[in-house]
Amino acid sequence: MSERIPFVAPSRVYSKLKEELDAAYFEVMSKGDLIDRQHLKSFESHLADFVGTKYAIGLNSGYDALHLSLRALGIKEGDEVIVPAHTFVATCSAVVNVGATPVLVDVTRDFNIDIKKIEEVINDRTKVIIPVHLSGWMADMPAIMKIAKKHNLFIVEDACQSLGSSISGIKAGAWGKTGCFSFYPFKILGGYGDGGAITTDDENIAIFARRMRFNGEDRETGEYHGHGFTCLMDNLQAAFLDVKLRHLPESIKRRKIIAQRYLNSLKDIPDLLLPHYDRSESDHVYQNYTLRSKQGSEFSDYLLNNGVEILTQFRKPYYKHQELNLIDRGFPETEAISREVCSLPMSYELTDDEIDYIIKTVRAFYRR
Ligand SMILES: Cc1ncc(COP(=O)(O)O)c(C=O)c1O
Repeated sequence: MSERIPFVAPSRVYSKLKEELDAAYFEVMSKGDLIDRQHLKSFESHLADFVGTKYAIGLNSGYDALHLSLRALGIKEGDEVIVPAHTFVATCSAVVNVGATPVLVDVTRDFNIDIKKIEEVINDRTKVIIPVHLSGWMADMPAIMKIAKKHNLFIVEDACQSLGSSISGIKAGAWGKTGCFSFYPFKILGGYGDGGAITTDDENIAIFARRMRFNGEDRETGEYHGHGFTCLMDNLQAAFLDVKLRHLPESIKRRKIIAQRYLNSLKDIPDLLLPHYDRSESDHVYQNYTLRSKQGSEFSDYLLNNGVEILTQFRKPYYKHQELNLIDRGFPETEAISREVCSLPMSYELTDDEIDYIIKTVRAFYRR
C-alpha cells in the first residue's frame, strides 16, 4: 500500500454519489434558491423523520445547535450546566457563551459521561445536563433521564458525533429537550462545509431557533422577536445533505462490518482497548472507531509514519488550555484517554484492502 489511507475521503463519496449530488447542485443553482428555500425544508423534514422528532431546524454548525438550545431554555449567568470533561470544546464553549458556568464531570471507559458522578455536582444553580454521545455510541440516556427528572433539569443532547445511534430504538437527539447535530465534513453525515441542526419535539423551541438563526426575524411577519444571530443552514448545503442522508443507513451498515473486522482481528492484543461495549439495546453506529492503546503516541505515530491517517482527539483535554479558564477538579479517566486515544480510519469508502493494511500495520506495531 504505497498511498496514505485517509481518515475520511470526501472525494470518494463525491464519486460514488456524483449523479445525485450534481443534480442537487444544478437544481439549486438554476433556480437561484440560496436562502431558506425548499431544499432546507425538505432536509429538515427528512432529518426529523430519521431522528424521530417533530421538528428539525437547520443551522450553520453543531456549535450553533448547542448555543441556541441553551438560549431557548433561558440559560444565563448564574446557571450551571453539566458537561463531560472529555468532549470537543464546543460543548463547553456554548455554555460559557450564554454566560453560564460549565461544570465538568469525568467520563467512563466508553468515553461518555460517568453517570455515577453527575449527582455529586448538582446544586440549586444546576439547570441543564449536556450528555455527549461520542463516536457513534450514546451516553447512558435512561439513567441520565432519571437523574434529570429527579432534579428537575433540562437535557440538551450533544449528538454531534452520533446521528443514527439509538438505545431501545430511540435515536440520539430524540431523548432530550433538544438534540444537537453537526454536519462538519468528518461527521457520519458530513456536508461540504459547516452545518448543524437542532431536533426537538417542542414547538416553542423550534420557533425560537427558526427566528434566532435569522437575526430574530419571523420570516412570515417580518417581526423581530429578539436579538438573534446569522446561523441558518445554506439551502445548497441542505440539498447536499438531503442526498447524503438517503445513503446514511447503508453507510452505517458498512461501518458496523468494518468495526467487526477490527474487533475480530485485534481483540487478542492485550494493550488495546477496543470500542465494543455491553449494554443491551444500545446501537453503536461507529462514526469513529476510537480505541485506546497503552502505547499512546508511540502507537499513533507508528500508524501515521506507515501511511495510516489516524486521529488522536484529544491529546490535551480542553480544560487544560489555560486561556479557557475552566476548573480542573481532576478527571483521571479523561486524562488516561488523552494519553491513549487513537481513532482508526472508519468510513463507508474504505476498501477491504485498506482495512487489511490497517490491521496488518497495527499488528506489526505490537510484534516489534
Ligand atoms: C461532540 C461535539 N460537539 C460539538 C461539536 C461542534 O460541531 P461544529 O463543529 O459543527 O460546530 C462537534 C464537532 O465538531 C463535536 O464533535
